[in-house]
Amino acid sequence: MRKEESTKHLLQKGGSRSAFSGKLGYVLAVAGSAVGLGNIWRFPYLAAKYGGGIFLLTYLILMLTFGYALIVSETALGRMTKRSPVGAFGTFGKSIPFRFGGWINAVIPMLIVPYYSVIGGWVVKYLFEYLRGGTKTLAQDDYFAGFISNGMEAEFWFLLFSLLVVAVLFAGVKQGVERVSKIMMPLLVILAFFVAVYSMTRPGALAGVKYFLIPNFENFSWMTVVAAMGQMFYSLSIAMGILYTYGSYIKEDVDIEKSTKQVEVFDTAIAMLAGLMIIPAVFAFSGGDPDTLKAGPSLMFITIPKVFASMGFGTGAGILFFLLVLLAAVTSAISLAESGVSTFEDQLGFSRHKSTLLMGAVIVLFGSASALGFGVLDFVTLLGMSILDFFDFLTNSLMMPVAALSTCVLVTRVVGLKKIAQEVEQSSEFKRKKMYGFFMRYLAPVCILIILFSSIASVLGWITM
Ligand code: PHE
Repeated sequence: MRKEESTKHLLQKGGSRSAFSGKLGYVLAVAGSAVGLGNIWRFPYLAAKYGGGIFLLTYLILMLTFGYALIVSETALGRMTKRSPVGAFGTFGKSIPFRFGGWINAVIPMLIVPYYSVIGGWVVKYLFEYLRGGTKTLAQDDYFAGFISNGMEAEFWFLLFSLLVVAVLFAGVKQGVERVSKIMMPLLVILAFFVAVYSMTRPGALAGVKYFLIPNFENFSWMTVVAAMGQMFYSLSIAMGILYTYGSYIKEDVDIEKSTKQVEVFDTAIAMLAGLMIIPAVFAFSGGDPDTLKAGPSLMFITIPKVFASMGFGTGAGILFFLLVLLAAVTSAISLAESGVSTFEDQLGFSRHKSTLLMGAVIVLFGSASALGFGVLDFVTLLGMSILDFFDFLTNSLMMPVAALSTCVLVTRVVGLKKIAQEVEQSSEFKRKKMYGFFMRYLAPVCILIILFSSIASVLGWITM
């Protein structure tokens, strides 16, 4: 299977270098896929919007229970079947529910990567402006709104970012990109740490630190749960077929529980650092203005430039920050697009060339709609949302819960918890086996039904987002 070849290097690279063991190589590959715009851009804006500390608490609980169980399941199913999602579901049955379960997992990344690339384009634009020394301009209040409402400009930067992603897929130099990212990821963590400390020590920022870290039940709403769950899927790359595929490349020597824990810790640490960079800055620079807190997708682009404009080496910090974020975004976008390309190759029998072109066309089509949705297409609203927000909502709040439910049903009704346990136990004792069974049987379906019900209710206007 070509798909296997295309991603295998990620895992083998670890094994062939003396400094990495195969297991560490695997953890790094999964962590590399997990860490992206989801951590740096999406997590802080959701935390700001949906209640601060209470959002964080909900997120952490869900991640340690529900998220944990799903990562273990997807990885074990991938390793057991040696297939990516469509094939993995197909191993257990050929009827429509099995096809549906596989395909919904496989289609999600194809729908995410177009709008992901639009945000990637915003990052490139900001990097470019910092390089031109526009530190003060970027920090102006309405700069970001002005930029995205000029749809043509946003479209230009989006196309540039997509071109980069598609070019890497064509050239097949992913390995080089991954290697660079392994050096730059730690740099991103260090820089984020310093920016977070700077941001938290601004006058007035403490209120933001408290808002982010201390749960206040008054800020709780159903949407807190829905948003936290969607974010958990997004950030950990769950319910989008990715972990099936990664699981299919590992051998029995990888301790699935341990690697899951390591990935969760790493991914959450970066998301929290991003939260500590951005949320205290909202309080320091706009006094905790509720409108800014609820700014949504634009939050990072509004507050971070203000932080940089207020510090000594702002331009240098801006260049470095957006460069590192760009890299995290490119590697994630490549892994999302790669998943689409290999589905086309395996399931439609297309050549790699043709599959890449098709993926490129999907990116340009849906991505352009998302980029122009704040400009010339701003009269288009889908379920009351801009096009970009709609794609985000469609994938995270509707499709991923269904994909996760498919995995739960596959595990509990078809494969059986016992067989998953056996798969995990091939490499190590399954420490949380009892809890795992409980999560998969009861907690996960209940959570999924809550998120689905709330999403539909919010579409129908019964609850507000
Ligand atoms: N988890 C990534 C993020 O947080 C998004 C992603 C999902 C990337 C799946 C690759 C594969 O941004």
